Amino acid sequence: MKIQPVRGTHDLFGEELNKTKIIENIIRKIANNFDFNEIITPIFESSDLFIKPLGEHSDVVLKEMYTFNDRNNSSLTLRPEYTTPIIRAAISNRLLEKLPTKLFAIGSMFRRERPQKGRFRQFNQMNFEILGSDDALADSELILIAKKILDDLLLDKEFKLYINSLGDRDTLKAYKKELTNFFNKYKKDLSIDSQSKIDANPLRILDSKENADIKICKDAPLISKLYSYEASKQFDEVKNLLSSSGIEFIQDNFLVRGLDYYCKTVFEFKNSDLGSQDTLIGGGRYNGLIKAIGGPDIPGVGWAGGIERITLLKESEKNENLNCHLILIDEKVKNYGIETLKKLNDKGLPVYFDYKYNLKKSLAYANKKEAKFAIIIGEDELKGKSYTLKDLNNSNQQKFNFNELILKLSK
Ligand code: HAM
Repeated sequence: MKIQPVRGTHDLFGEELNKTKIIENIIRKIANNFDFNEIITPIFESSDLFIKPLGEHSDVVLKEMYTFNDRNNSSLTLRPEYTTPIIRAAISNRLLEKLPTKLFAIGSMFRRERPQKGRFRQFNQMNFEILGSDDALADSELILIAKKILDDLLLDKEFKLYINSLGDRDTLKAYKKELTNFFNKYKKDLSIDSQSKIDANPLRILDSKENADIKICKDAPLISKLYSYEASKQFDEVKNLLSSSGIEFIQDNFLVRGLDYYCKTVFEFKNSDLGSQDTLIGGGRYNGLIKAIGGPDIPGVGWAGGIERITLLKESEKNENLNCHLILIDEKVKNYGIETLKKLNDKGLPVYFDYKYNLKKSLAYANKKEAKFAIIIGEDELKGKSYTLKDLNNSNQQKFNFNELILKLSK
């Protein structure tokens, strides 16, 4: 029997875990530079927190949530996204008293999607949210942070920023009606999946990947014709601020995002090497959502990025930490060995110990792991309270006392 993780989940270890840690460190550093506070919320919440805000007809709510009944029959859901739990936590913990509140979070999300490259059923996201500001500068600051993180992590990799505005909530309502009328005219030519969305969620048809749908969407009405003066002004300001900070973008009139809570600015960073799951980061404004969840009537804006997708693109970096192997050539020196292990560790020097008690085997293993040094201890060393340090690059070796050893390794 093959022992495998559940479909769509994966174990993290070795190089991928190393990359994930580097990614998380950079996220935390940049979040700190922009004065965002970290928050961690429980992995599951009441199902109600997600159903209305994400949209009763959204794919996430209809098909993808991991929902189960607790023993008292209350309905709970493993979080499929982080924005609503962050807002719930900000309300629960009175974090909305001094606005704007800037929060970030890193953690696992759960969606029962069809697994493929870059798409998992348990995956990790970073999330940045600004609660309590309707200023176009907040949208632009968030985009600037997203770009800074991608720049720092993906160095010379190409990614593009797409932006759009969904106008006010009234605009969106009117636009959905226009789209429903439009798609009804071409109903029989649309894919079966899109046909089922014409009345409940026509926006989703706009980012269908089916050729038949793409052809019809080319002539779909544009939302920009329905913008209010205010929404139009704000979108212009966001674009203007992005240009001032030297950020290039592509205006995509059909960028609509998959969750129902968005209005005004929406944006996505995409990379073409990822195949169909090409969105690294997506987000936008969600004025009205905080009130809908039970908080004050304040605006909000944010984004989330998929850490696995960044890991797929990120070059490996060597873990330079573990470069010294401790080799005991005889079981008789075990006590001296553990004393040495502890003393080196107290000095903050990482060492690897293999329980082999065989110089040849241990050296072969240290070489395979590309260690830089081996500290060799046998009966001679025990007698002289010394340590033989072997440089594994050139095979030179020399005996040292403990202080000399520390001095040499610290270099
Ligand atoms: P989202 O577009 O659903 O937005 O997800 C954001 C990012 O999470 C995606 O761009 C992708 O990189 C990653 N992602 C999503 N689903 C998967 C999956 N199944 N496997 C791997 N990675 C995935 C949100 O979640 C919103 N809460 C973003 C937001 C924050 N809007 C405002 N604030």
